[in-house]
Amino acid sequence: MGVTKNTHSSSETTTGEKRNSFSGSLGFVLAAAGSAVGLGNIWRFPYLAAKDGGGIFLAVYILLALTFGFTLLTTEVAIGRKTKQSPLTAYRKLNKRWGFLGVLACIIPMLILPYYCAIGGWVLKYFLTFLTESGAAAAAEDGFFTGFITAQTEPVVLMLIFMLVTALIIFLGVNKGIESFSRILMPILIILVIGIAVFSVTIHYTDSTGTVRSGWEGFKIYIIPDFKGMTLQHFFTVLLDAMGQLFYSLSVAMGIMITYGSYVKDTDNLGKSINQIEFFDTMIAFLAGVMIIPAVYVFMGREGMAASGPSLMFVSLPKVFAEMGGIGRFVGLLFFAMVLFAALTSSISILEAVVSSLMDYFKLSRAKAVAIEFILALIGGLAVCFGYNLWYFEQPLPNGTVGQVLDIMDYISNYVLMPVVAIGTCILIGWILKPGTVVDEVTRNGERFGRKSLYIIMLRYIAPALLLILLLKSLGIITFL
Ligand code: ALA
Repeated sequence: MGVTKNTHSSSETTTGEKRNSFSGSLGFVLAAAGSAVGLGNIWRFPYLAAKDGGGIFLAVYILLALTFGFTLLTTEVAIGRKTKQSPLTAYRKLNKRWGFLGVLACIIPMLILPYYCAIGGWVLKYFLTFLTESGAAAAAEDGFFTGFITAQTEPVVLMLIFMLVTALIIFLGVNKGIESFSRILMPILIILVIGIAVFSVTIHYTDSTGTVRSGWEGFKIYIIPDFKGMTLQHFFTVLLDAMGQLFYSLSVAMGIMITYGSYVKDTDNLGKSINQIEFFDTMIAFLAGVMIIPAVYVFMGREGMAASGPSLMFVSLPKVFAEMGGIGRFVGLLFFAMVLFAALTSSISILEAVVSSLMDYFKLSRAKAVAIEFILALIGGLAVCFGYNLWYFEQPLPNGTVGQVLDIMDYISNYVLMPVVAIGTCILIGWILKPGTVVDEVTRNGERFGRKSLYIIMLRYIAPALLLILLLKSLGIITFL
């Protein structure tokens, strides 16, 4: 196992070696919530909520977070703390034959990091653009986003800056890097999210036809379920969308929560921390919808709410900020600052999952592991950036979408490997090692395991079944749902 010098906290592993650890529950909760709250919450969640009928998606998402998300999160954090290993070696330590799951769980963050940093560079571009009034106005013009991502140099430079900051924080280590930055960035992020959400709900706008729209109406569209035309097939679409989102959002099945779990002290109350992480992530995802959906509704009407993913955040929102008048630039600047912090606290966790795996498996120093993964991520990131210009192509994917390099990496990691790792984890813990492995870890200091029966049923039956459906649908094998 890689041993790094740490002046703050360390704990004894089962093999008697020293390993870094978070200084306490708060440090762990903030770091893990920082990992969970990221681009997924801010651009993906509001778009899916708008697409899938607002309140219905919300209700299904919250129900899944409390059952399915809770099960996966608890399992991974407990595996991490029990083995004191990062994913590459954790699965092997639990059961030699299942070591391959660790390899897959380590490949996932390696695939996600390059495009996450490329998008981090896009966010940085918008943050810098909103520093000036003329920039904010330019960002609202048609073609601004496409012009930027199809340029050959600027996206690469900004990605590089974002990647370097991520690498620097990880180089500083678990306490001075991850924990210290999460302690600073997370409270700022929460204040910004709440402030912008309140602002969004309270605005009004009269459009060119004289129609007055209010943020409050937009808020109601967001939270009140619309059952009109609801069919069983639509319900399944909502269920699978919510489940896919939950994976990404909670940072499960990407090796991160095993890694962070391995830094939790044996004396910390695991169950309590997991509840807090779940709460944070779901709350911020919900508030991201409150920030975005009412504002887009007010200034762009219901049609504007149909915009998805990057085009919602990078195309529609700058137009919304421009419509707000003088205050818009300021709100936009705060918004992109907030997204930047959210992206950074997530990208560091993605990098840490790989760095920690390299340290544990190859017994490398932290500096060497960071340098190796930085070079790999840079190569992948260049491919992502050039995928919009030099290497542009349109590749149909089995889930029915068409994409470039970024979408292919996203498809392989999120739609294929993550469900495979999650199904494997449920089988390994639920059937081979038995749920007691996790229950014992969570209750090792005599703590109560809340929702224990639910956990066992989810782990053994419901989660693997739902995951299998999700995987088969992603692979294009199931087409009727
Ligand atoms: N959980 C992180 C996000 O939502 C990866 O972006």
